[in-house]
Amino acid sequence: MQSIDNQMSKLQPTDRKISPYSYSVSHPERCAIKGHQSACLWFTGLSGSGKSTIANAVDQRLNREFKVHTYILDGDNIRNGLNSDLGFSLDDRKENIRRVGEVAKLFMDSGLIVLTAFISPLRADREQARKIIQPGIFFEIYVDCPMNVCEQRDPKGLYQKARQGLIPDFTGIDSPYETPGKPEIVIYSNETPVEGCVTQIIEYLKLSGIF
Ligand code: ADX
Repeated sequence: MQSIDNQMSKLQPTDRKISPYSYSVSHPERCAIKGHQSACLWFTGLSGSGKSTIANAVDQRLNREFKVHTYILDGDNIRNGLNSDLGFSLDDRKENIRRVGEVAKLFMDSGLIVLTAFISPLRADREQARKIIQPGIFFEIYVDCPMNVCEQRDPKGLYQKARQGLIPDFTGIDSPYETPGKPEIVIYSNETPVEGCVTQIIEYLKLSGIF
């Protein structure tokens, strides 16, 4: 006989009769206290392209100079906790990105600007995240850096291991990266110093009325 847990896990949310509770403090109220809108800055790009470095630098300026409240979700961190059950098959990456989209949505509901730094290699998965979060306040930032430069940088020594066949399904080697079709922002991390990349992103946020 199946355990109750097992049977429950096969039910659809509608079968479970879940009705979300409507809490009193609204999203605009939360944003008003913070003095800025919430948004998601979704960094995508190859491993070693500079996503985390640039997200970190944007985060510093938003907090220290503009007193904007933010939080960073980063692949290498999230995969150590919430997503430690996931690997690097395309199905697992899809689930990784879906969960990150849902978590980012919650952080944004609390009034924060969320920065996410994930390879997020597939267009369809990034588009799903955009839908989860809300089009309009989802800014896809493509950190464009040639594969050979990422491989030369190889900050974690992973490309070398992947070339030796020690890491299967490595993005750019034996697993795909689909370049964004219409990202809100493109960063040429190989040609622009980090501070220039940060300014480009901050100016975009200001023009969009986020803060
Ligand atoms: S994603 O494709 O699912 O979005 P994510 O950004 O969470 O990937 O994790 C990527 C990080 O995991 C890389 O920066 C790298 O440090 C590490 N990593 C380990 N194995 C792989 C792999 N097979 N492909 C890409 N990155 C890997």
